[in-house]
Amino acid sequence: MRGATLSGTGSYVPEQVITNRDLERIVDTTDEWIVSHTGMRERRIAAPEQASSDLGTEAARAALADAGLEPDDLGLIICATISPDTLIPGAGSLIQANLGASRCGAFDLASGCTGFIYGLGMAAGYVRAGYCEHALVVATETLTRLTNWTDRSTCVLFGDGAGAAVVSGIEGEGGLLALELISMGEAGDLLKVPGGGSRRPLTPELLAQRADRIVMNGPELFKLAVRLVPEVAERLVARVGLQMDDIDVLIMHQANQRILDAAAKRLDIPDERVVSIVEKYGNTSAASMPLALDIVNRQGRLRPGDNVLLVGFGAGFTLGGALIRWTQPPRVPGH
Ligand SMILES: CC(C)(COP(=O)(O)OP(=O)(O)OC[C@H]1O[C@@H](n2cnc3c(N)ncnc32)[C@H](O)[C@@H]1OP(=O)(O)O)[C@@H](O)C(=O)NCCC(=O)NCCS
Repeated sequence: MRGATLSGTGSYVPEQVITNRDLERIVDTTDEWIVSHTGMRERRIAAPEQASSDLGTEAARAALADAGLEPDDLGLIICATISPDTLIPGAGSLIQANLGASRCGAFDLASGCTGFIYGLGMAAGYVRAGYCEHALVVATETLTRLTNWTDRSTCVLFGDGAGAAVVSGIEGEGGLLALELISMGEAGDLLKVPGGGSRRPLTPELLAQRADRIVMNGPELFKLAVRLVPEVAERLVARVGLQMDDIDVLIMHQANQRILDAAAKRLDIPDERVVSIVEKYGNTSAASMPLALDIVNRQGRLRPGDNVLLVGFGAGFTLGGALIRWTQPPRVPGH
């Protein structure tokens, strides 16, 4: 059966860094609290003239270069984002135009921080069905634009960034081995932007209440993530007849170092196989897993035959995981 694999990865983060010390000047918080509760030390913030499609375009170009492809080789662009430049048009179409990809479809996908996994599943299905040879999944977020900078319980967490992967058809072994997508809409209130949609179109009153900004129940999300992320991981590994010990690289959604530690402990996966970029980039929502994936790929840590497990969770409430058998040769670090 025709398979689908990741033939290239890319990422981009804006230049400007916000440190915990910078946040101490904005809200009632401390570097010590942020580090001990989240593991975060800094995150990136987009320049005023940058929007999500700009970050996504850079990540997409890097992924295409890594795959050795041209924009016209793409048959589909899926943009996972909850912070598109505008509601209409979608960021996926803007990225398509920026790339000059003239022979492909494009759409946006809003599954919160799990978006990259959803996109991977859609792209792999499309490629496997033979509708195209190469599809691009680009996850890009400027969540600092949705952040309530007076709410210390959320504003310290989020950063901006983008990650991308090219999904290509292959004959034979490897690539995406298993996928699981879950939605638990009944828990949707745990993370939301209450105003600005068709339910509550923005009014001056809603804007004054900052209803266009993220509201989050952190402790409840924390508990759900620590319980459900390992469950998804275990099911994916069992489905393809592997043991957790066979997982070479585990990339979870980068929301909090304590979540990564607790989930890895429950799965009994040693720290050196668990990827963490929380300290440097904070929570970049949908971009966090492809950004982490590209960083380890660039470090030359991924080798053909490696079992790479991605598991994410986020607004919706959504959950998802993908088990990939790496097929690309290792990248030379620094290139
Ligand atoms: C948000 C999160 C870091 C909060 O950590 P926590 O240990 O659960 O902390 P709590 O919310 O229980 O708050 C503990 C105390 O710290 C305070 N606090 C919250 N944010 C603070 C900050 N930035 N600086 C200082 N104190 C802070 C709270 O007000 C609370 O004080 P109180 O006990 O006097 O009421 C954590 O719950 C988390 O990471 N949750 C998951 C979030 C997530 O995954 N979101 C993304 C989903 S995609």
